Amino acid sequence: MLEWEDSRHALLAKPLSAFYEAGEITGKPLEFTLVHGVEGYRSRRILIAGAGKRDKFDASALRKITGAAIRFLKGKGVASAGFSLDSDGLNTPELLTAAAEGALSGVWEPDRLKTDKTGPKAVASVVFAVGEGAAALDAALDHGRIIGEAVNLSRDIAVEPPNVLTPLALADRARKMAEAAGLSIDVLDRDRMAQLGMGALLGVAQGSAEPPALIVIKYVPETNTSPATHLGFVGKGVTFDTGGISIKPSEGMEKMKYDMAGAAAVIGAMQAIAHLKPSVAVTAFIPTVENMPGGKAQRPGDIVTSLSGKTIEILNTDAEGRLILADAITYAKQLGCTHLIDTATLTGAIVVALGHLSSGAFTNNDELLGKWMAASQQAGEKMWHMPLDDEYRDLLKTVYADIGNIGGRYGGACTAAMFIKEFVGDTPWVHVDVAGTAWLDDAKPYLAKGPTGIPLGSFVNLALNWK
Ligand code: BES
Ligand code: ZN
Ligand code: ZN
Repeated sequence: MLEWEDSRHALLAKPLSAFYEAGEITGKPLEFTLVHGVEGYRSRRILIAGAGKRDKFDASALRKITGAAIRFLKGKGVASAGFSLDSDGLNTPELLTAAAEGALSGVWEPDRLKTDKTGPKAVASVVFAVGEGAAALDAALDHGRIIGEAVNLSRDIAVEPPNVLTPLALADRARKMAEAAGLSIDVLDRDRMAQLGMGALLGVAQGSAEPPALIVIKYVPETNTSPATHLGFVGKGVTFDTGGISIKPSEGMEKMKYDMAGAAAVIGAMQAIAHLKPSVAVTAFIPTVENMPGGKAQRPGDIVTSLSGKTIEILNTDAEGRLILADAITYAKQLGCTHLIDTATLTGAIVVALGHLSSGAFTNNDELLGKWMAASQQAGEKMWHMPLDDEYRDLLKTVYADIGNIGGRYGGACTAAMFIKEFVGDTPWVHVDVAGTAWLDDAKPYLAKGPTGIPLGSFVNLALNWK
C-alpha cells in the first residue's frame, strides 16, 4: 500500500494503491492519472501528477507540472480545476509563483485565427489551495499570475502573422500595453530617426513599404534604491526577415515572422515590471523594421553611417538584426542607460551551437552576467555563457568601412555578438541570442507549439533582484 508522509491526502492512499501496484502510477515527472469518485473529496475527479525524484523537484519542475496538468485537463474537457499545494514544503512563495505561472502558460494556444471553434476548450478557472500564511502566499501567486500574463501577451504578439504585425502594428501593441500599465512611451518615426542619424536601422528598413519605428518604453520606480543604475532592455523587432537582397531560401521562410520575438519578450517584461514595481529604473528600446528586398532595398556593398558615427559595410543584408540593434543600443546609451541587456533571434549559428534548449549569453562584464544567470535560473530559462574574445573582432574587418556586418563562415553567433559589442563599448552588457529558444517547433506537454516568451522571466527577475 502507498504511504503518505503528509497525512493531508491520506484518503487517497487506498484508492491509489491499486494504480501503483499495477504500475499505472510511478511518480515520474509529468505522469498524469485521473481518478474518479474518490471518497471524502468534493471534487468529482482527482488528477494525480507525477513530480519525479524529490532531489530533482524545484520551481522549474513545478512550473512544468502545472502547465502540463492544465494541458492534460483540456484534453479531458475539464472547465475548472484546483491545485492542492497546501502540503508542507509545497507552499513556499517561490514554488507558488512558479505554479501559477506554469498554469497560465499552459492555457495559451496559438490557434486564435482558426475559425472553427469546436475543439476542446482551455480550463477556464483555476484555484490554488495554499494553506497557512495566506497573505504572503497570495502575493506569491499574484506574482506568478503577472509573469504568466506577461508571457502570454508576449506570445500573443509573437504569433501574429507578418501581414498583421507590421512594425507600426508592433508599436501600437506596445502603446496599448504601456497605456494600460501606466508606463510612458515614445515611438520614433523614420523622420526623427533620420534627423538623429540612425543610418544602420534605416538602411535595413528602406527595402520595405512598411515604415520602421524605434519604440521606447520607460519605467520609473516610485522608490529608487539604485539611483546610479538605469537598466536598458533592447529587443530585436524584425517583423519579417526575408533576408533582403541576400534573400533566404523559401523553405521555412514563413518562420521568420518570429524574428520579433526579442521585441515581444521585452514588451511583456515591461508589463510585468509595471505591476511588480522593482526599485530600479528600466527603459526598453525596440527597433522594429521589416527586412524586404524592395526596389529601394540596401545592397551588399552599401556603406551606412550608424548613430554612433561608425561606418558599416553591408556584406550580407540578412545580417540585419545587429544593424538595428547597433542604433538602438547607441540611443540607449545617449539616454543614460548604465547597463544593457539585448535579446534577439540573431543567428542560425546559435541554433547549431546550442540547439533549442539553451539561449546563448555573451557579455563584456562578468558581474552583470552573474546577475543575469541568477535571474534566468530562477525563471527556468536556460542560458549558456558563450565566448567573446577580442580575437573575434578581426573577422569583422573590412578595408572600406570601420566594420563589416558579417564575420567568416564559422562562429557566427560569436561574430554577431562581437559586432554588437562594437557599439556597446564599455557599458556593462549582456547579449542573449534566442534564435533557438524563442519558438517551439513542436508542443511540449507543458507548452503549446509556437512562441515561448523567453527570456521575459529573466528580464523581470534581473530588475526585481537588482542591488
Ligand atoms: N533572423 C535571422 C536569424 C535566425 C535564424 C533566427 C534561424 C531564427 C532562426 C538573422 O537575421 C539572420 O538571418 N542571420 C544570418 C546571419 C548571417 C547572414 C551572417 C544567419 O544566421 O544565417
Ligand atoms: Zn536575417
Ligand atoms: Zn533576422
